[in-house]
Amino acid sequence: MKISILTIFPEYFDSPLGVSILKRASEKAAVEFEIINIRDFASDKHQTTDDRPFGGGPGMVMKVEPIDGALQFLLKKAKSQNRKILLTSAKGVMFTQQKAIEYSQCDELVIVCGHYEGVDERVAAHLIDEEVRIGDYVLTGGEAAAVVIADAIARLIPGVLGNELSNVNESHSRPGQLGFPQYTRPSEYRGWKVPEILLTGHEANIAKWRKDSREDGDENKRTQ
Ligand code: ADE
Repeated sequence: MKISILTIFPEYFDSPLGVSILKRASEKAAVEFEIINIRDFASDKHQTTDDRPFGGGPGMVMKVEPIDGALQFLLKKAKSQNRKILLTSAKGVMFTQQKAIEYSQCDELVIVCGHYEGVDERVAAHLIDEEVRIGDYVLTGGEAAAVVIADAIARLIPGVLGNELSNVNESHSRPGQLGFPQYTRPSEYRGWKVPEILLTGHEANIAKWRKDSREDGDENKRTQ
């Protein structure tokens, strides 16, 4: 899979994509990341990517032309039509594990990072497939959201996680499902004991205990 990120802050991604599982995913060529600087597609000598909103109001709005230019550049060299183009935005649809699973089926995913007071609405209307938010709060920019989305999707690509079963039984792999409690050595620490059953080696009983101990993912029933 190829994940392309369009941003005005390309350096933002050096660290998140350069460590741990996402770094290994690139090295193993399971996922190819491409970071595109939207500024490179601005037409004026100051490489302007934002402007004042029509109708007045505070803040600046990201311009449509540089984003369109960057997307055309990407689409021209695309190898597959099985592609989704996302725009990060506090007013988008919620990004969930089900969305991550859906997007992970694509050959190419493009994430446009929104900024400032917003993005010229013609981007959402004509250039992208879906506007997505990662939570009900407002970020300073879409880069943090793009990292979250890319991470959640990349770990679903075959070959990225060490153990393919790792993402079968985990939290949210089915709607509302949360993971079971995990423990490792030592079996007792400061008097805090690991549940006895996990030390018995009895697979069927352990499986039942794990099933029974899954927390209910229903937000309304959760205490914290
Ligand atoms: N940009 C600003 N806030 C955001 C959010 N919650 N999700 C995605 N993009 C955003």
